[in-house]
Amino acid sequence: MELPFAESWKIKMIEPIKKSTREQREQWLKEAHYNVFQLKAENVYIDLLTDSGTGAMSDRQWSALMLGDESYAGATSFYKFKQTIEKILGFKYVIPTHQGRAAENVLFSYLVKEGHVIPGNAHFDTTKGHIEARKAIAIDVTCPEAKDTQKELPFKGNVSLELLEKVLLENKGNVPFMVLTVTNNTVGGQPVSMKNIKETCDLCHKYGVPVVMDSARFAENAYFIKTREEGYKDKSIKEIAKQMFSYVDAATMSAKKDAIVNMGGFIATNNEEWYEGAKSFCIPFEGYITYGGLNGRDLNALAQGLEENTEFDMLQTRIHQVEYLASKLDEYGIPYQRPAGGHAIFVDADKVLTAVPKEEFPAQTLTCELYLEAGIRACEIGYMLADRDPITKENRFGGLDLLRLAIPRRVYTDNHMDVIAAALKNVYDKRESITRGVAIEWEAPLMRHFTVKLRRL
Ligand code: F0G
Repeated sequence: MELPFAESWKIKMIEPIKKSTREQREQWLKEAHYNVFQLKAENVYIDLLTDSGTGAMSDRQWSALMLGDESYAGATSFYKFKQTIEKILGFKYVIPTHQGRAAENVLFSYLVKEGHVIPGNAHFDTTKGHIEARKAIAIDVTCPEAKDTQKELPFKGNVSLELLEKVLLENKGNVPFMVLTVTNNTVGGQPVSMKNIKETCDLCHKYGVPVVMDSARFAENAYFIKTREEGYKDKSIKEIAKQMFSYVDAATMSAKKDAIVNMGGFIATNNEEWYEGAKSFCIPFEGYITYGGLNGRDLNALAQGLEENTEFDMLQTRIHQVEYLASKLDEYGIPYQRPAGGHAIFVDADKVLTAVPKEEFPAQTLTCELYLEAGIRACEIGYMLADRDPITKENRFGGLDLLRLAIPRRVYTDNHMDVIAAALKNVYDKRESITRGVAIEWEAPLMRHFTVKLRRL
C-alpha cells in the first residue's frame, strides 16, 4: 500500500484555542462594528485573518534567537542575515526593515515622486497605499484571466504584457519602476511563471524601467514554478528562486510570510545607487542600517527561516494543506478563485452571497457570517479593501470581491481545515436567506478596511 502524505515536521509546542457560543460572537462582532480586525484575538477560534507573522517558528529558529548579537552597529546577526540573502536572492546590498511595508516606505521615499505612474500585477494594499500617499498613481496590469475565478490556469498571477506595454508607452519617462508581486496576493495567492517574470523584466528594461519584486511569498511562487512550469521539475527551490531574482533590479520583502518570522522585512538590490539612496531613509524611519527596526535575534531567526522555507518538503507540506482545504470546498460546491492559492483560499463572495448587492459589500458580509457561524476569522480582500478612487472618491467595485482564508504556516492541522470547510458549508447552505449586507458608518481616507466601522443592514 502506498503511504499517504504527511507533514515534513512534528509538533514540539502547542497553544490552546477556545470555542465560543453564537450568542457571544453576536455580541463581540457588534462591539467590533462588524469589522473582524476589531475583534479580540482571544475571541477567535481559528484565525485565518492572515498568514503574515502568524507562522510557527522551528526549533532551529528559536535556537537562532538565543544567538542574536544585539550590538547597535555591525552585529554578527546582520552579517549572517546579509549573507543568507545574498546566497538565496543573489543581492549584495541589503537593508533590514521591521516589515514589508517599511521596506516599501524606505525604498519608495527615495524613488517615488508626485505624478509618477507605477504599474504592477495587482499591488498589495500597503504598496498601493505607499504609492498613492505620495500622490503617484498605481496601475494594475494583471492578466485578465485572473478575474475569472472559475478558470483553472497554472499562473493566474501573471502580468499582462499588453497592458504593461500600454502603460510604459503612455507614461514614458514617468515610470520609476514596476512592481512584480510573487505570489500575487490580491488576485488569490496566484503564482507568476518564470516565463512571465522574464518577459515582464525584458519589456520593462526595453523601456528603461527597473523592476522591483515584492517577494513576500517568493518561495511559494518557486514551488509552483517547480511543480507547474515545464523545465523546472528537476531544479531545487533555491535554484528557481535565484533565477526569479536574477531578472529583477531589487526586491522588497515582508519576511513575515515566506521567512516564517513574526516580524521582519528587508530591501535587497545590486543597484548601488538605489542602496545609497534608500539607506538615507532607513536611518530616520527604521534605525541604523545594520538593524533597521529589528533585533539581532530577529535577524538570526529570519535568516534561518529563509534557509529552511526554501526547501521543497517544507513548501510541499504547506501547499498540500491549502489544497486539502480546497478539496473540501470542492466537495461542498463552494466557489473560490481556482486553482487554490499558495497561502490561502479566496472564496468568491459575489458568487456565494448573490442576493447581497455590491454596494453592501458581499465579501465583508461573508466574513461576518463565517465568524458568527464558528468563530473563524477570515479577511475581506474585496470592495472594502479596494478603498475609494483617490480622484473620484467613488468606491472601487471593478475588481474581485473575495473572502480570504489565509492559512498560517505550520500552525493548524488538517482537522482544523475540516472545521473551516464545514462552517463555510453551513453558511453556504443558507446563502439565499442572506439578502442584506453592511453599510459604512465611518471610514479612514486610506486603508479603510483596518478601522472601518460598519452597520448591519
Ligand atoms: N506585499 C505583499 C504581497 C503582502 O501580502 C504584504 C502583506 C505586504 C507586501 C506588506 O508586508 O505586512 O510585512 O508590512 N500582507 C499581509 C496579508 C498583511 O495579510 O496579506 P507587511
